[in-house]
Amino acid sequence: MAHDASRPLVAIYPGSFDPLTNGHLDLISRGARLFKKLIIAILRNTGKQPLFPVEDRIQMIRETTSHLDNVEVDSFEGLLIDYASRRGANAILRGIRAISDYETELQMALLNRRMRPETETIFLLAGEEFSFISSHMIKEIVTLGGDVSTFVPEHVAARLRKKFPAQR
Ligand code: PNS
Repeated sequence: MAHDASRPLVAIYPGSFDPLTNGHLDLISRGARLFKKLIIAILRNTGKQPLFPVEDRIQMIRETTSHLDNVEVDSFEGLLIDYASRRGANAILRGIRAISDYETELQMALLNRRMRPETETIFLLAGEEFSFISSHMIKEIVTLGGDVSTFVPEHVAARLRKKFPAQR
């Protein structure tokens, strides 16, 4: 592949974002500084029972990132690399918190590279203050009545308070 230094990097940040956390937001802010355009793409996964429907997740991420003018929020179905190809994206952005993330991320990045070599996966290390935060744990805490407002952006915390009014 010929090197084209003038080609701007358009990156996709894919994920479930159920819900968006402060860790995701940190990665989005840093990604928006690195790339010409950053597309946050929510997987429409009919198999999983989500906390929030995709449309609500899109809205929360849009509200939270409205100050970043090169960030777009979208959703996708099917293979990520097919979506990347449709969107003309040349990079996939993923965050790594701890060594435990590495194995799955390595597998996904290598499979995606085999399937579409022109899309590079670029990893950013999660900010250390966010390294213990995951959507999975947020979901668990909030459904058990805990308060997660310090782990998620304000727009998300407000929706969670509405959904789970009995939060401690
Ligand atoms: O937030 P998550 O759950 O860690 O995100 C996982 C995601 C959405 C990035 C991954 O499951 C994905 O890309 N799914 C789309 C289907 C696909 O392309 N699978 C092959 C990847 S090797």
